[in-house]
This record gives sequence, C-alpha cells and structure tokens, in this order.
Amino acid sequence: MRLFGLIGYPLGHSFSKKYFSEKFNREDIADARYELFELPEIAGFKSLVDCLPELEGLNVTIPHKQAVIPYLDVLEESAKKVGAVNVIRLQNGRLTGYNSDYFGFKRSLEQWLPKSRRELQALVLGTGGASKAVSAALKDLNIPFQLVSRTAGPQLLSYQALKAQPELLKEHQLIINTTPLGTAPHTEEAPPLDYQLLTHQHFLYDLVYNPAKTRFMQLGEAQGAQVKNGLEMLQLQAEKAWEIWNS
Ligand SMILES: NC(=O)c1ccc[n+]([C@@H]2O[C@H](COP(=O)([O-])OP(=O)(O)OC[C@H]3O[C@@H](n4cnc5c(N)ncnc54)[C@H](OP(=O)(O)O)[C@@H]3O)[C@@H](O)[C@H]2O)c1
Repeated sequence: MRLFGLIGYPLGHSFSKKYFSEKFNREDIADARYELFELPEIAGFKSLVDCLPELEGLNVTIPHKQAVIPYLDVLEESAKKVGAVNVIRLQNGRLTGYNSDYFGFKRSLEQWLPKSRRELQALVLGTGGASKAVSAALKDLNIPFQLVSRTAGPQLLSYQALKAQPELLKEHQLIINTTPLGTAPHTEEAPPLDYQLLTHQHFLYDLVYNPAKTRFMQLGEAQGAQVKNGLEMLQLQAEKAWEIWNS
C-alpha cells in the first residue's frame, strides 16, 4: 500500500485528505491511502518518517512549512524560490522539498488573465507564506508587484499609504489577497482598500476559497472588476503534489 499524508498542527478539517481520498476512489487508485499526521513539534518529524517505511509523499501545513527544511536532503527550485515547503517526496531514503502553492497560483493566474492584460502591475496584500508563493510566481511571469502590509517597511506599502495615494490603485490593476481576511466565519471582513476606486479594468484574485465569493470579491465585482477565488489554486496545487509523488 502506498502511503501519503499531511503533517501540521493542529489538523482539523483537511482539504487535502478529502481531496486525495475522493481522487483515489474516483480514479480507482486502490493501492494508495492518505492519512493525517498531527505533529505538534517538528522535532518529531524524523521518527515519524522512520516509523512509516511505506510513506511516499507528504503535504506540509502550518506551522512546519519552513521548519521542515533542515530535515530534507534536497530543495527543488520551487521551494528555494518561495523559501517554504508544502510537498515532500520520499524516494529511496531521500527527502525532496517542493512548493506546489507556487505552481498552483502561477498556473491558475496564467489561465485566468487574458493575454492582452499581461502588462499590468500587481498589489499583493499580506506578507505571510502564501504571499511568498504568489510573489515568486509573479516574478516568473514578469508581473511587477508591490507588497502591502499592516506594517510599513522599506519594501512594504502600508494600507494607509495606499489610501493616501489613490493613483496607486489606478496603476495596479491586479490585486491579490493573500491575507486570511474574509475567511468563514468572519465573512464580513475584507482588506481595507478604497474599493470605489476600482474599475472594470481591475482583476481581484482572492486566495481565500471559503466562502466561494468573499467580501473582497463582492466589493470588487460591484465596481465591475473581474474576480476569482482560491479554489482552483488549491486544486491545482494538490494535483501538482500528486504529479510530484508520481514523477
Ligand atoms: N487557495 C490556496 O491554494 C491557498 C494556498 C495557501 C494559502 N491560502 C490562504 O491564504 C491565506 C493566507 O495564508 P498564509 O499561510 O500566508 O497565512 P498567514 O501567514 O497567517 O497570513 C498571511 C498574511 O496576512 C496578513 N494578515 C494576517 N491577519 C491579518 C489581518 N487581520 N488584517 C490584515 N492582514 C492580515 C499578514 O501580513 P502583514 O502582517 O504583512 O499585514 C500575514 O502575514 C489563508 O486564508 C489561506 O487559507 C490559500
């Protein structure tokens, strides 16, 4: 039996377990199973892996995406670019780290943005792990971007500065929410932007996928902007993980 799974802590409801269990059923993959491995401390990683000789692949979630790196033998390019690992392949005792969020976001954005609009500039809201995967993808797509944070810094625009300079929202027509704002049950929350400055020229991409239409998306749509949630990215990153484990 081929074993795959997810490490993180705490692990409540897991998209990955549901996704892979349904995939194995749907595609008659009878020799594989997907398990949750709650790992409070990354120090327990090696003994977990040593106990599971049939383990071929892992997804990694909060809080271990960076902490797991010293335990790996190789970092593939995507993990190096992002500085975090969310997929591990175990093969002949060698552990290789990848970042499939980077692949998922990049492919989904490429599919969504019309070719005629690849010249635009982006704002990336939030500076956490998801923001790093998004930034790496934007760099590779040659889309210039500015990071927006609650805390101003040398390379960081604050939300206040964005409000003080309305031309910035006119100049940056792709806005990507990588903050958790708007995630259920806090569905009334949205990043603090002057949404009335948005137009039908804008594209709003929300990494949040629950609810399917977030407040950020609703406020953009009311101004005529194109909007997209994070579900496709989530599915594409899971499929990328499966491709990695079977490569
Ligand atoms: N669709 C997908 O496939 C996918 C993949 C990965 C993640 N996600 C989603 O993306 C979101 C972010 O994930 P993450 O792992 O990057 O999370 P994170 O590291 O916890 O947070 C991301 C950033 O959001 C900003 N932020 C946090 N709370 C905020 C608040 N109350 N108001 C304004 N900004 C706030 C912070 O940036 P500043 O401190 O700089 O403001 C933080 O660094 C989550 O909702 C996650 O579910 C989706």
